[in-house]
Amino acid sequence: MKIKNLFLPALAAFFVFSVISSSGALYAETKPNEKITQLVQGYAKEAVAADSGFKRFSADEGRKLFTASRMHSKKKESRSCTTCHTKDPSRMGRTKVGKKIDPISPAVTTDRFTDPKKVKKWFRRNCKWVLERECTPEEKGNYITYMMSL
Ligand code: HEC
Repeated sequence: MKIKNLFLPALAAFFVFSVISSSGALYAETKPNEKITQLVQGYAKEAVAADSGFKRFSADEGRKLFTASRMHSKKKESRSCTTCHTKDPSRMGRTKVGKKIDPISPAVTTDRFTDPKKVKKWFRRNCKWVLERECTPEEKGNYITYMMSL
């Protein structure tokens, strides 16, 4: 076989190989986001169950939830998600007792929202602290959609 007859098959093999290896790399990079997608899809199912008219999550509504202040009925103090997470999700936060909180933005703290148990625990705690009730599935989906848009 002449060398030039090998050229095209070799080129084709190289092309196929590079496509497979780059999609492999892509898959590895998107893995944490897949967990978040699953979580958000779960909220979407719950949102539809609560309201059959539910269409999609809104980053804008998520931003409003994040920044809105509310007067606590008993403590008589204004509370917001930003009280601890600051107005800028990419910044370090701080608890009321001064403990540091890694930035809530998943663009900065890359494992944000990837552990469903952790997400559940903190949504419950923080929504009750700020809103005196749990957040709805729609609110949770909006919030994570906003954070993922940053
Ligand atoms: C009193 C302080 C405080 C307030 C107010 C607060 N958070 Fe948090 N939040 C924390 C702490 C502390 C953690 C856990 C530490 C960490 O994740 O770095 C956390 C973590 C979270 C997590 C889990 C993130 C992850 O990595 O999975 C979510 C979701 C969350 N907060 C949502 C909210 C929402 C929504 C509000 C407003 C309704 C809010 N938080 C208000 C202190 C607060």
